[in-house]
Amino acid sequence: MQNVVEINKTIKNFKKTITVPGDKSLSIRWVLFASLANGTSKAKNLLISEDVLASLEAVKKLGIKVIINKKECKIFGKGIEGYKYKKNLKIDAKNSGTLGRLLLGLLVNSPEPISLVGDKSLSKRDFKRITDPLTKFGAKFNLKNKKNLPLTIVGTKKLTPIKFIEKKGSAQVKSSIIFAGMRTNGYTIIKAKKSRNHTEAMCRYLKLPLRVNNKKNYDEIKIKKVKKIKILNYDIPSDISSSAFFIVLTALSKKSELIIKNVNINPSRIGIITILKKMGVKIIFKNKKSYKGEKIADIKVVSAKNIKSINCSPELNSGAIDEFLVIFLVAAKANGVSYFRNLGELNQKESPRLKWAEKILTNLGVKTITTNDSIKIFGNPNLNLNLNKKIIIKNYLKDHRVFMTSVIAALSFGGHWKIFDPISIKTSFPNFLKIINGLKK
Ligand code: S3P
Repeated sequence: MQNVVEINKTIKNFKKTITVPGDKSLSIRWVLFASLANGTSKAKNLLISEDVLASLEAVKKLGIKVIINKKECKIFGKGIEGYKYKKNLKIDAKNSGTLGRLLLGLLVNSPEPISLVGDKSLSKRDFKRITDPLTKFGAKFNLKNKKNLPLTIVGTKKLTPIKFIEKKGSAQVKSSIIFAGMRTNGYTIIKAKKSRNHTEAMCRYLKLPLRVNNKKNYDEIKIKKVKKIKILNYDIPSDISSSAFFIVLTALSKKSELIIKNVNINPSRIGIITILKKMGVKIIFKNKKSYKGEKIADIKVVSAKNIKSINCSPELNSGAIDEFLVIFLVAAKANGVSYFRNLGELNQKESPRLKWAEKILTNLGVKTITTNDSIKIFGNPNLNLNLNKKIIIKNYLKDHRVFMTSVIAALSFGGHWKIFDPISIKTSFPNFLKIINGLKK
């Protein structure tokens, strides 16, 4: 793969049906649950990307056999206490916050020290948010700068349940605590600000001792020791976060129409749909069905005629947290000023994404007012760049979503773009450029 992608043409109108790869959150969770099951679990349509491959490598290092081929992935779980590993084990979470953070929850009862490392981007991210609650269970940690990777975890068999208030709306923090609670005698209670609930859905499907009390602004979750996990065969639906790029591209293109097949539309993940519909984009769900505690549908989207600005309610933030960069492109073409706030978490992602949003929008000639946790976007319904306008996007942390958002901006608004590090898409969406090229045919 070349080191840079050059685009200096907007995309022509298209009418297509596409399928994007499996959901990343579900794929990683499937790997972790299957690694603890009693017996062999099979997954179809598992996302084969670096984050998920790192998850498979991690459970292999913990002594779990994995077989992967084109059709399916098999994990040979040895039960909830089945992890066996050599001394001085080192696990590499690479770019994946989800893997690193969730796995630590499962390792709280592993007494031999295990070290966790990650790539440059992950090594800048906050792990204290996980190690603080896990320390309360009884695990011990040694972190670089008291908050970063590399870290070492020393677990214990003498765990105590905890009560925890999760205020960030982080599914990774919530899930990590649920996993630790699964290893602990007594009830662990989490009062968690709303966030994606795939871990809870899998627990419920597997009939694990987890109870959720849904309140208006938070969920109260109770979990106690899990003795046995049955096998989990799973056909992973497509990822709405990957679909997001194509939803936005269609909305911003003229006379286009797109159907994206079999997408996970779990209500805790469809913030982008709610936001774009409020902005006047026509999106419909077809062939809705339920699957093992998740909801699936085909998504149909057509070009938007008049895009309205939005004052986005922070209640929608966690359901769209990975999609804001592309959502901001829609705001760039809206009639009026859009306002997105309470979004400090965006700067905690693979790279400081609020800062990147400002850079991309400024390159587009769109005025923004950005603070540490908010952005005002002064939309321009006639946004159209001269094809000679040179724009270079080089994100030194190689954030996959910065790369893909830049491609969508280039294809939607024009300009002469050089976008570095296409290799970053391997993290979550390896065939992204192939699908883009398919739309051009
Ligand atoms: C994820 C949760 C989100 C999201 C990430 C995947 C998950 O992170 O940004 O891409 O699978 O639980 P936070 O929980 O830190 O918000």
